[in-house]
Amino acid sequence: MNPFDIIKKYYNPDGEAYKILVHHSSDVANKAISFAKNRPDLNLDLRFIEEAAMLHDIGVCKTFAPDIYCEGENAYLCHGYLGCEMMMKEGYPLHALVCERHIGTGLTRDYIIRANLPLPHREMTPVSIEEQIICFADKFYSKSHLGKELTIEAVRAQLVKYGREDVVRFDNWCEMFIR
Ligand SMILES: [Fe+2]
Repeated sequence: MNPFDIIKKYYNPDGEAYKILVHHSSDVANKAISFAKNRPDLNLDLRFIEEAAMLHDIGVCKTFAPDIYCEGENAYLCHGYLGCEMMMKEGYPLHALVCERHIGTGLTRDYIIRANLPLPHREMTPVSIEEQIICFADKFYSKSHLGKELTIEAVRAQLVKYGREDVVRFDNWCEMFIR
């Protein structure tokens, strides 16, 4: 598959939303691949990682996020599971799970209920190593400062706001993927 064929179905390739999405997703894809290359022992599927990283944020067009030129009607937080629905429809269920499971360091069903988030009540934490590595790589790039890579300390400082569990998951990934 070619991720750009799918992105172009939902985003005008001449528009700002497309440019931002592709820039951010390329940064995440490159980072995820570089982490995967740190762990040749895990035999990761590099092609899948590249495709799924390019598509992980496909759902943003269904959300209202004018700063990144998205004029949908859903809360931004919903872009993960909405992207999942889009990729399921496209016939790529494994790529779809990457979309659903990349918010923060992943959202547990308990947390979604406790925090009263506008999301379906199900586990949304990354499971496969490929899902984890893309979620991890995504934390180093925001869509508001394109091309700027955050330091480990900066990512940790953001995650602390969401609670200790997020920081623990992030620290585990640093151990696993940074050599
Ligand atoms: Fe995202």
